Formats: sequence, structure tokens, C-alpha cells
Amino acid sequence: MTTLDAAFDILQCPSCGAPLVAADGGAKCAERHHFDRARQGYLGLRAAHKGKGAPASGDTPEMLEARERFQSQGFHDAIAAAVVDAVPVESRGWLADLGGGTGWYAAHVLDARPELRGVVLDASAPAVRIAARAHERLAAVSADVWTGIPLRDGSVDVALRIFAPGSAAEVRRVLAPGGRAVIVVPHADHQRELGHGLKLLKVPAGKAEEVAASIPDATLVSSVEVRQRVELSVEQALDAVFMGPNAFHQDRAKVEKVLVEWQAPISVTLAVTVVTLQLDA
Ligand SMILES: C[S@@+](CC[C@H](N)C(=O)[O-])C[C@H]1O[C@@H](n2cnc3c(N)ncnc32)[C@H](O)[C@@H]1O
Ligand SMILES: [Zn+2]
Repeated sequence: MTTLDAAFDILQCPSCGAPLVAADGGAKCAERHHFDRARQGYLGLRAAHKGKGAPASGDTPEMLEARERFQSQGFHDAIAAAVVDAVPVESRGWLADLGGGTGWYAAHVLDARPELRGVVLDASAPAVRIAARAHERLAAVSADVWTGIPLRDGSVDVALRIFAPGSAAEVRRVLAPGGRAVIVVPHADHQRELGHGLKLLKVPAGKAEEVAASIPDATLVSSVEVRQRVELSVEQALDAVFMGPNAFHQDRAKVEKVLVEWQAPISVTLAVTVVTLQLDA
């Protein structure tokens, strides 16, 4: 049985919230909502779009490539280690990586916690295509975690939300008794230097405190700051800018021109807080 087959134990219909069962190479619920399983091995759980604006489409292939290059060069290893540390060694059951992208963090945790199985949920189809191959104990689902997480109430033992959007009420709903949420938020000065001379998106301060208070009936287990200074080439600095939401607002050629003028190595602060919350057992 694949991990995606096993994940039917925890998946629910994004349209009506009923449990999902495997059907016709995809999934269906009792209300006859049907969802396809892609050839690339992920399940598409997108509800019909309601509300204003375009549905969340998530990161583009170019953003994912920039993030993969940046992560593979070790710049986020200290963050990944802090995330793994936040997940108890004896953890078992299901991990859900919300806005989990390519599954890079989920794979780190699964490598270190052999009794866990995981599912990455992300709005980006190119991301979950990669996540579907990231780890044998990891399933991948395309989903909008902002409008509703297609996981059953109390089904998740470890929820990750790393540099990603999401509703605290939904995280609370899917967590099992005793379950943990591990949430990584950038510090106000994360990649601050790259904002000099470039109109990059600002990170509002105070987010970690908000996150810690966001699930009122959970206990704050820890709030760990991971801070380092890295020396980046122009290419690496470009990846640092274009792997995140700035990619939707910035012109690559213009940013490259500014970075070349600065001259490498470009010294950049990486600073995040890893907030861990736990429900009573
Ligand atoms: C900055 S990336 C972080 C990815 C991953 N957690 C990591 O750190 O490697 C943010 C991710 O959130 C996803 N995303 C954005 N809006 C979303 C939504 N409404 N529902 C699900 N995923 C979303 C993007 O596609 C992207 O993969
Ligand atoms: Zn349904």
C-alpha cells in the first residue's frame, strides 16, 4: 500500500467535509464529489472556487527551483534541524505539512522520526508533483489550506506550517489530542539586507507572538529563534529573493542589476522563530 492509499484514513472532501474513499483511480465522498489522482502520484483535492479573486495557485516552477537550489546549499539546514527537534522522537501517526511545497521539511522530519507517516498539502501543482517523490512515507495532495484543510478532525499528530499561510482554527481542528503544531515564521529582520535599495515585501514584526497565541487551548512548548549570517553570491541572493512571494512583485533583471552593483559576497541575516504548540492529550 502506498502512503497516499494509507492517507485515505485521514483525508476528507474539500467540498463537503465527508470522508473520502478511493474510487476510479481518484477519490470520492458520499456526496459524489470526485477528485483525480494525477499521473505524477499526487491527489488533487481542490474544491470548486467560491469567493472573490483567483483561487490560490501557489508557487511557480521558477520559485520552486530557486527554493530547491537555496535549500540544497544548506542555508535552511539549521531551520530544518530546529523543526526536527520540535517533533518528539517517539512520535507516531500522521504528520501534515501545510503549504509544504516540495516536502523538503517533511522529508527531514520523516527521516528522523521513523514511526511517522506524512502528507504534504500545497496549492501549487508543480510543488506537490515533486513532494510526491520526496519520501516513501510521504503522500502529496494539492489543496488550498487557507480555505479549509481537507483532513479529518483530530487526525494529525504533527502539523508543520513553515513559511506558509494558513488558518489557526483549521490547524486546531485537524490536530489530534496531544498533537503538536510546529510553525516557522520569519523574524522582522529575516533577509533584511536584501531589502536595501529594493522594494521587497516587509515582514510585519510580532508574528511569532501572534502565532503562539493563535490556538488558545494549546500549550506553548517552545519558541526557538534560529539566527545566522550567510555570505551569498549574486545567484544565491537572487534565489533568496525569488523563492518567496517577492517573485510575484519583482522584476528579476532589475533585482539582478542592483545585486551585481553591491558586489558579492552579500552578507544576509536569516532569522526565524520556530513556535511549537501542543494540545492536551
Ligand atoms: C514560501 S513557500 C514554503 C514552502 C515550504 N513550507 C518550505 O518552506 O520549503 C510557501 C508555500 O505555500 C504555498 N501556498 C500559498 N498559498 C497557499 C494556500 N492557500 N494553500 C496551500 N498552499 C499555499 C505555496 O505554493 C508555497 O509552496
Ligand atoms: Zn464531498
